Amino acid sequence: MADHVSVPSVKDDPETQFVALHTAPDVYINAKNDTCWLPWVGTIELKPYRFEARSGQFVVGLRSPVDACLGKHRHRGPVTAVTVAGSWRYKEYQWIAHPGDYVVENPGTIHTLYISGGSEVVFTINGSIEFFDDNDQLKQTMDIFSFAKLYYDHCEKVGIQPNPGLWY
Ligand SMILES: [Fe+2]
Repeated sequence: MADHVSVPSVKDDPETQFVALHTAPDVYINAKNDTCWLPWVGTIELKPYRFEARSGQFVVGLRSPVDACLGKHRHRGPVTAVTVAGSWRYKEYQWIAHPGDYVVENPGTIHTLYISGGSEVVFTINGSIEFFDDNDQLKQTMDIFSFAKLYYDHCEKVGIQPNPGLWY
């Protein structure tokens, strides 16, 4: 008799059945077919991976074909970043993030992003981001809905359907 016959299936486990009733499904986002790059600031482009409307968390890729700067900004929620390609840094810090590096940005911190040409970073962002001008005056506040609208506006402009599957 094969070994697996004597092992109960996890589907028969009461807790597994209970969890199956209430858990959210796993999600796979295909980088080419389920989302797209869209222009943001200057040469910097965004790719949305997730809009999570209950907590306000969203996940976006960020890239630029040439060296670029994203203005000084302050976070109101925690942010994490994984570098996929190239390198990037904040003017205010000594480190330079390379592929595989992991960065945590905490609420209240203010920094100015410099990204090298050909770089790509995936950010998981909570709360809002406040952008400042050269005189440190608040210029713009953005959150999950600001970024989602950028994506939807881009889809309308280029004549493609936004993917509702990115809201999860
Ligand atoms: Fe930041």
